[in-house]
Amino acid sequence: MKSRILELLINTDEYLSGSKIASELNISRAAVWKHIKSLKQEGYDIESVSSKGYKLSNYEKKLNKYELEILLRKLGLDLNVHYLKTVDSTNTYAKRIDDISAIIVAEEQTGGRGRLGRVWSSQRGSGIYFTLMIRPKLHPNIVGMVTQITAVALKRSIGDKAMIKWPNDIFIGDKKLAGVLTELISEINVVERLIVGVGVNISSVKGLSDIATSFSEERLEFHPFEFFESFLKNFFDLLNKFNQTKNLAFIREEVNNNSYFMNRNVNIVGSNKEYVFRGITTSGNAILEGSDGKKEEIFFGELSLKRR
Ligand code: BTN
Repeated sequence: MKSRILELLINTDEYLSGSKIASELNISRAAVWKHIKSLKQEGYDIESVSSKGYKLSNYEKKLNKYELEILLRKLGLDLNVHYLKTVDSTNTYAKRIDDISAIIVAEEQTGGRGRLGRVWSSQRGSGIYFTLMIRPKLHPNIVGMVTQITAVALKRSIGDKAMIKWPNDIFIGDKKLAGVLTELISEINVVERLIVGVGVNISSVKGLSDIATSFSEERLEFHPFEFFESFLKNFFDLLNKFNQTKNLAFIREEVNNNSYFMNRNVNIVGSNKEYVFRGITTSGNAILEGSDGKKEEIFFGELSLKRR
């Protein structure tokens, strides 16, 4: 309700009377007063003038629960918002809560997790850390393709310089800007909850400057709301398409045209065999061409560039 009151105040330069707000939102004037008081305590500069009502001054967008709720309403997305100052990991938190449809955003993570059991450095101010939890009507056999949908949504939202490093890292040049950790809670045949965690580096990540980059190091502007708006739009548009087609043919060309590995020599981490990366299949598998010209597909694992 607080976000609805805030939205009304943001959208007008006039004073809004308590009774107008109350009737618009179908709550009592006392409830309006209580929510306004709490918004003020949270730092919003809301003037109250007894004959006129309430007016918001000196407004600057803030990344918080209410403003994210406003954004989600604008986008027509029905996700509960969990905005946390600190958490172990937004993915782990997602598994702990009952929601089936949520976005969890944290200012810092004390136990940020990456793929393959790695640590994801998640200091306050260095990045954005969030998880989408959804229950897509997709079979568990194909739901893994959502990781590549996430990578495409990120690439589109970040812009031209971003490349997709199979399966779902975002690189600029030879350094990582963003990563995706997708987890699944599922019965054999039914997805219960798909947990898509995204970490994006905003400013330099301590101790990792040789392998990680960030918006600020790349001199790219970062506006959290524009980013979330664009990412969520892209992600859910792509997911809707995927729901209809059940394969990645509709983004295959985009992935291949923006692939960090495309036509480059790679190894599967842990093996010495050399391949040339030839893009993805419509299922998102990597197509690897051996020195004998034979093509193999892998659907899981990690590739690294073979430098000469
Ligand atoms: C990777 O590249 O290895 C994946 C990194 C994913 C990091 C994000 S940050 C938000 C969410 N919570 C986590 O603990 N991990 C993901």
